Amino acid sequence: MKVIFSGIQPSGTLTLGNYLGALQQFTELQNDHDCYFCIVDEHAITVPQDRLKLRDNIRSLAALYLASGIDPKKATLFIQSEVSAHAQLGWMMQSISYIGELERMTQFKDKAEGKSAVSSALFTYPALMAADILLYGTDIVPVGDDQKQHLELTRNLAERFNNRYNDIFTMPEVRIPKVGARIMSLQEPTKKMSKSDENEKGFVSMLDTPKKIEKKIKSAVTDSEGIVKYDKENKPGISNLLTIYSSCTGESIEDLEKKYEGKGYGDFKQDVADAVVNLLQPLQERYNELINSPKLDDILDDGADKASFKANKMLKKANKAMGLGRVRK
Ligand code: TYM
Repeated sequence: MKVIFSGIQPSGTLTLGNYLGALQQFTELQNDHDCYFCIVDEHAITVPQDRLKLRDNIRSLAALYLASGIDPKKATLFIQSEVSAHAQLGWMMQSISYIGELERMTQFKDKAEGKSAVSSALFTYPALMAADILLYGTDIVPVGDDQKQHLELTRNLAERFNNRYNDIFTMPEVRIPKVGARIMSLQEPTKKMSKSDENEKGFVSMLDTPKKIEKKIKSAVTDSEGIVKYDKENKPGISNLLTIYSSCTGESIEDLEKKYEGKGYGDFKQDVADAVVNLLQPLQERYNELINSPKLDDILDDGADKASFKANKMLKKANKAMGLGRVRK
């Protein structure tokens, strides 16, 4: 069975973008793959976090994974900091990555832009991400479009390590959804939808109430042409809403264009809002049942054990390949 690994940062309530770009793929994959899904809290601390909020976000993300349909009987769900092999291999990956290649990462450039104090961990973050993936012998990494460059770096680091020390790492492939790989902001549709957006109207949170979702979709920035047609260059707002609609319902963009021929944006936006609410409402109900349940801790304990078992085997091989510590008979 092929191995899947992916991670999400617990840095605030997830957006519809996180769901459509990442989580939705995860649930499809768990039936016929050996899946590891991680709450990457060590990545989250590369920017300052409030201690208590981070704790809440970790728990909330675990509940969101499960509410989205991750089945702990099929997939291993765990918290990164509870499997120490991640930080350990992360350090080794830093030792083989070059400053030049890390400087080229657009996510780092975006996050560091205009800030006077940027942590060194934000800079070396992709080395830890490579470690996350390589620890599990991962074949496939399902992510949104914005993680593609990090995946390319992971492959380069794996190849470098294998050539320099020993051929122990599997070459991971990226898996990006055909529709929904980059959901855009509702207010600035040329910018990615992001949970850290200062303008709350730019994103739909997975836990927004139906009323709030409707309001946000209805006030999404579009154009004045009045034609529901996919044209990313000239009609980024409408194209984004078409993508959201299609990803929520599974209807193709072409079919949706036909459906709204001769109709205005009012009807269209109402239906997009309904599609998002229909998708998120049952998920929110499951979330509310899970968030305070002790079952959640049992699942995470079990996940940490299973992930540690697998990760420690690879860490041992990597230590041996690099000559760290002692070899014991
Ligand atoms: P993060 O936490 O920013 O996002 C989690 C996942 O959501 C996807 N995503 C989107 N997809 C479509 N449209 C959007 N607007 C959108 N915004 C976010 C992301 O592509 C991602 O798949 N570095 C990673 C976390 C990570 C990781 C890993 C991922 C750490 N280690 C190992 C995969 C494998 C991150 O910051 O994702």
